[in-house]
Amino acid sequence: MFAHITSSTPDPIMSLMEAYIQDTHPQKVNLGIGLYYDGQGNIPLMQAVHIAEQRLLEQQRPHTYPPIEGSKLFAGQIQTLLFGEQNPRIATVQSVGGSGALKLGADFIYHYLSGREIWVSDPTWANHWAIFEGAGLKVNTYPYFDDISGQLRFEAMLDTLSALPEGAVVLLHPCCHNPTGTDLSHPQWRAVIDVLQQRRLLPFFDIAYQGFGDGLAEDCFALREVLKTSLDFLVSNSFSKNVALYGQRLGGLSVCCGTAEAADNVKGALKTLIRRSYSCPPTHGSQIVETLLADRQLSQLWASELAAMRQRIKQMRVSLSAGLEQGGTTLDYARIRDQKGMFSYTGLNGQQVSQLRQQYSIYLVAPGRMCLPGLNQHNLDYVTAAILDVTRPA
Ligand code: LMR
Repeated sequence: MFAHITSSTPDPIMSLMEAYIQDTHPQKVNLGIGLYYDGQGNIPLMQAVHIAEQRLLEQQRPHTYPPIEGSKLFAGQIQTLLFGEQNPRIATVQSVGGSGALKLGADFIYHYLSGREIWVSDPTWANHWAIFEGAGLKVNTYPYFDDISGQLRFEAMLDTLSALPEGAVVLLHPCCHNPTGTDLSHPQWRAVIDVLQQRRLLPFFDIAYQGFGDGLAEDCFALREVLKTSLDFLVSNSFSKNVALYGQRLGGLSVCCGTAEAADNVKGALKTLIRRSYSCPPTHGSQIVETLLADRQLSQLWASELAAMRQRIKQMRVSLSAGLEQGGTTLDYARIRDQKGMFSYTGLNGQQVSQLRQQYSIYLVAPGRMCLPGLNQHNLDYVTAAILDVTRPA
């Protein structure tokens, strides 16, 4: 029955993580998957999460079914985190991680809207392609980043968006662009939103790294600007990184509609899609975050822990960039310093990335995406020397 199934191409990011775990090199460094490591190289259990989880355990709640759309309290908290306040025009449902929100959004587009196409940035997170194509959408690109110059291709991006048909779905990263770490400035966001309005496009914002750019509220600039317009839009968000709840698979999908009544109907559509897919979401992660966000002190503790993570990443950017500059690198070290979020699109080519892996057991996602939090004071010199080695002119 299954003999016709041939081998599958491994996922470029997840398979790298598996290879890293298998690697026995004593100095191996994981700069691949988007995962925050602390200064000692450990994945942290955030204090605020730990306290919230303890409180939950003390309550000895039974593990009953949640509503199809997940916790209503949690949905409201997502809206406050993203938009600064709750809004009856927005239908928010809990999702199975940020990826689950993207898939649910993709299913919604496929089943309820007329155009079965989406435009994503070139480049974008590899799994955007997999999720949208897997849901039956045709995936197209708009220009975004030039890896040679290290600059945004902003004019080309605007030109492409300006030529899209009415109703076209455009995937945008509100902060910490994955993989380039290069975000739009505020004036550039306003210009994009103008085009979205003029062309009557449908933006789909994917925010997986809220809090890792400039701050929890600052990273939502684009979302809050677009909310001021009459545009309908979708937002997928994730709690994998900013609450370090990777394995709990916790996120949300929000759909902003013209009216509260339209939002009710859209929520009904989302519930239909959820019920026939996985029925309803898991509850442990959402109860942790719900408990955390409902308590002022715990929320503040979480925000300060997140700020420290953000600062540590910035410090690693500065240190690596300075080390490469001092070593006389040919690499554009300034972009490593200036890009935002967990990633830097270093400009290292595929061959250099594979040399780093073969010779030094340093793992990056090809072609040159580095996850900065994998760096720390113990491995910084090792990584700097290795990059200098592989980028030395022949
Ligand atoms: C990444 O880009 O490394 C993360 O979003 C993790 C993933 O699922 O790919």
